[in-house]
Amino acid sequence: ETVDWDPEQAGKGEYEHFMLKEIYEQPTSLAQAIEGRVDPNAGQVSLEDFEPGTFEDVDSVQLVACGTSYHAALYGSLALNQAGVQATALLANEYSVTAPPVTEDTLVIAVSQSGETADTLNALRQAADEGAETLTVTNVVGSTAARVADDALFIRAGPEIGVAATKTFSSQAVMLTLLAQRIADDVRGEPPADLESLLPALADMPEEIDTLLEESAADAIAREYIDSQSFFFIGRGLGFPVALEGALKFKEITYEHAEGFASGELKHGPLALVTPETPVFAIFTGEEDEKTLKNAEEAQTRGAPVIAVCPDGHRAVEVADDHLAIPDTDSDLAGLHANVQLQLVSYYAADLLGRPIDKPRNLAKSVTVE
Ligand code: G6P
Repeated sequence: ETVDWDPEQAGKGEYEHFMLKEIYEQPTSLAQAIEGRVDPNAGQVSLEDFEPGTFEDVDSVQLVACGTSYHAALYGSLALNQAGVQATALLANEYSVTAPPVTEDTLVIAVSQSGETADTLNALRQAADEGAETLTVTNVVGSTAARVADDALFIRAGPEIGVAATKTFSSQAVMLTLLAQRIADDVRGEPPADLESLLPALADMPEEIDTLLEESAADAIAREYIDSQSFFFIGRGLGFPVALEGALKFKEITYEHAEGFASGELKHGPLALVTPETPVFAIFTGEEDEKTLKNAEEAQTRGAPVIAVCPDGHRAVEVADDHLAIPDTDSDLAGLHANVQLQLVSYYAADLLGRPIDKPRNLAKSVTVE
């Protein structure tokens, strides 16, 4: 059920940076994450310790996390909402002052790559003290989170050395998507309607990401826009956490200004920042894409170049100035493919700027202080 590793032995191999190596590991890390947990033929999700019925008393879910893990948590909360379960993602560092009430029927999920982030552990302990059920979704077996929480679900991504999280984000989001199905099935007494399309799409994901990595235009796009003033990312639905993550990755490793917005929110303020010097990466997940396209066009009208992250043949390709291709897959997963393209754009931009990609200034892989 777990993958053992020795960080000292995890060399960079043929890659110039751990970050690039870890981006390229995603077909493998995702295959490991879903192995034995997804059966497209039987139409089932099976998650080790979480037998059918485990979550039948859950009436709401709170996900707590920081940084990239918070974006995965947000992704998971939206997947739960879409599956008909009440769920909220909360910043763990805000939890001590603004936690919503919990009862014994609240499931609190701590999402943490390391399982050692102080803010996240504090939130987890607080929720447990108040009587909530707790669970952690983590990469590290034997981590503090895995010991403190009532249960643990391991993402099996293997060691991640680059400070900027990449492969662990996709594995967290996929595991939370599966967990959402499992929880919804128990809470509602029936599997969510879209499980039938999700499972085969998940099974195809590793191979599709392999192809995406091989054919990506991210290097050329990074080169084209490298001299811009700010970099904006917009997405709707499950594309929103991906927009936030695209911007976080970009600022972490390039030191350039980047922001992520919900597509529809662009017109409520951020549009004032949009100029020909601010490229807008628009993420299309198949959730009301027409509206997102309209929002992107509003930016384009102000002179901003639009880079559409969408499948070939999508209407946005004609409208946009540039295109990063993703497979035409289930809307539950499209944003995660888009995220891989955005990871590459950040990587190549940081490389062009000569940044220390694996160890950005002022940042640590795991923050064990409040
Ligand atoms: C640090 C890292 C981030 C990470 C965050 C949460 O700030 O620099 O990349 O997302 O901690 O870490 P965790 O181990 O809890 O996922």
